[in-house]
Amino acid sequence: MIVKALLRKLIGSSSTEKIEVASSSPIQDTPVQPVQPVFNFKGYDIPIDLMAMTGGGPDTFVEISDSHQANLKKWIDIQPHHNVLEIGCGIGRDAIPLSEYLTTGSYAGVDIIGRSIDWCRNNIGARHRNFQFIHYNVEDQLHNSAGDTKTADIVLPLADKSIDRIFLFSVFTHLYQADVEHYLREFRRVLKDDGLVYATTFIYDDAILESARRTNLTIFDLRFEHEISPGCRINNFDVPLGAVAFTDEVWGQMLASSGMALTNRLYGAWSGLHSNPAEGQDVMILGKAS
Ligand SMILES: C[S@@+](CC[C@H](N)C(=O)[O-])C[C@H]1O[C@@H](n2cnc3c(N)ncnc32)[C@H](O)[C@@H]1O
Repeated sequence: MIVKALLRKLIGSSSTEKIEVASSSPIQDTPVQPVQPVFNFKGYDIPIDLMAMTGGGPDTFVEISDSHQANLKKWIDIQPHHNVLEIGCGIGRDAIPLSEYLTTGSYAGVDIIGRSIDWCRNNIGARHRNFQFIHYNVEDQLHNSAGDTKTADIVLPLADKSIDRIFLFSVFTHLYQADVEHYLREFRRVLKDDGLVYATTFIYDDAILESARRTNLTIFDLRFEHEISPGCRINNFDVPLGAVAFTDEVWGQMLASSGMALTNRLYGAWSGLHSNPAEGQDVMILGKAS
């Protein structure tokens, strides 16, 4: 149970900040708007329903955010002047702390949940003109079931070789191989030659699968029983994109076909085979292949 609590913490956390409920001051004869529960984080009132759509709730939000920022600093050393791209920015768990840090740089956040992007634009973007938020109406069973386009159609509105750092927390864990490869090709295009990518993923081999099934450390029962193509497994046929895992071989193919290269690989704690105290999922740190 202690380890499960730790892994819950790695993907979330407990917080000392209290949940606030937005108060409305109804003007006479004006219909009273339903009260929207929010969570105050660094001066932003984040709608809790949007927070839940992106994984975790108020009890874990701050600790996850702190853990993300520490890992970004440690592994890809984001600097205040960097131009940064985040895929799967959700409700700004990482954009908000970066808005205090990227003083002369810039940030672009991409997500497929329209209401979250609207909230980020109207709140974070309104205070920080160097922060932009981009919505793609990608159809996705988990996050945007009414979408009308697909990941493979995304062309990031960013100039070639303009970005210093790219990061994705728990996005490649929800995409099939073709979509991961599409993003990697876009990363190759927009990254500066010395740019870096930090992307969490699930990597498996026989020993990892055996350990994950035996230890069952996460609250998600990650067993990856279903091989849907060589070197790609999903955890649940009913929710295929709930968790997707790849072998190292498939990661190698994806990197080769996109012109990206592995700089560092960190194994997370999720399977019980490796003990990374900082990250529950595995991490690929990438640069451009020369
Ligand atoms: C598990 S959540 C993580 C959110 C955020 N990184 C965080 O840590 O708070 C995954 C996010 O990726 C987004 N997402 C899923 N598929 C996507 C895609 N094809 N392109 C961009 N974002 C995607 C989801 O809408 C969701 O906000």
